[in-house]
Amino acid sequence: MSRYHPVVIGSLHVPGNLFLAPVAGYTDRAFRALCVEQGADFTCTELISAEALIRNRVKAEPLMRRSDTEDPYGIQLFGADPEVMYQAAALLAPYHPEAVDINCGCPVPKVVKTGAGSALMRQPSLLGRIVEAVVRASRDYLQSVPVTVKMRSGWDSASINYHTCARIAVEAGAALVSLHARTRAQGYAGKSDWLHIRDLASRLAVPVAGSGDLFSPEDAEAMLRETGCAGVLFARGALGNPFIFGTTRSLLLTGSYTPPDAAERLHTGLRHLQLLAQDWGEKTACLEMRKHFCAYTKGMPGGAPLRNKLVHAETIEEYRALCREAEDLMPYG
Ligand SMILES: Cc1cc2nc3c(=O)[nH]c(=O)nc-3n(C[C@H](O)[C@H](O)[C@H](O)COP(=O)(O)O)c2cc1C
Repeated sequence: MSRYHPVVIGSLHVPGNLFLAPVAGYTDRAFRALCVEQGADFTCTELISAEALIRNRVKAEPLMRRSDTEDPYGIQLFGADPEVMYQAAALLAPYHPEAVDINCGCPVPKVVKTGAGSALMRQPSLLGRIVEAVVRASRDYLQSVPVTVKMRSGWDSASINYHTCARIAVEAGAALVSLHARTRAQGYAGKSDWLHIRDLASRLAVPVAGSGDLFSPEDAEAMLRETGCAGVLFARGALGNPFIFGTTRSLLLTGSYTPPDAAERLHTGLRHLQLLAQDWGEKTACLEMRKHFCAYTKGMPGGAPLRNKLVHAETIEEYRALCREAEDLMPYG
């Protein structure tokens, strides 16, 4: 079987195994739309606070809306109280997500001090009750869409417990487990230990999606081959590089791929800006786009001077003019 293949997540049949990971502050619906265009098979919102959602659904709305092209997509919730998670999941009904994901990996102090995110891995039985509650909400309000869980390897190197946590999550009804194979203590430093992904994929009855250090199509091919995981989650490797889905698919299916050239990267960056402007208005979109454009132009000839100018651009027209100017200076042929 090709390494590019469908993944069955409970009742959900996903046509391929290249997923966009949630990345807070980056994977909003404008970016997710571009990733789908470029071949992402499954996308998910960034983490959304269950407490905040219950307090003010309207405020959380922009984070939860799907783009026109996303199908299937998931919404990720975080929280530490099963009842609150049940109520929050119930409120997702108007968005018709194809899956609900539970965040058990976020290392950020603001989240872990509430007992949520990766702190849930220190309380596996609570994690189990949370999964149960969200599965119940899915049955009651969301037509039983699958509930999935995204976790780390453990809290720190002395408490690697992904297997216990994943087993409990699956017993409570989780239909897929994503594993970012770093500990909470590691944050985003060091290496993701893919042996953990291999171990989990060989032991769980449900599909495992692997995460950590996927920066190229070759990385994804290696993770699928070395770990036997069902799917891969692109995170930092997709930022400014939504093309990674198409190039990886091509590598897996044909053994080769053509990387996008500088002009294509700039044009896609400008489309990204337009999509952001549709959601947030031109001013906010231009500000937001600065960080993205830095990623789009990384490693590009003439990228550094272009970035220096782009971080001052305040209108779409200014972005366009700077990109045109950069293109004119590019060596072709
Ligand atoms: C800035 C940033 C924000 C993130 N936000 C989320 C999030 O909202 N939910 C989540 O489950 N993981 C989140 N992650 C973790 C990623 O989904 C992924 O598991 C991690 O970055 C490892 O993959 P990588 O090494 O390929 O980037 C975030 C990571 C980064 C760098």
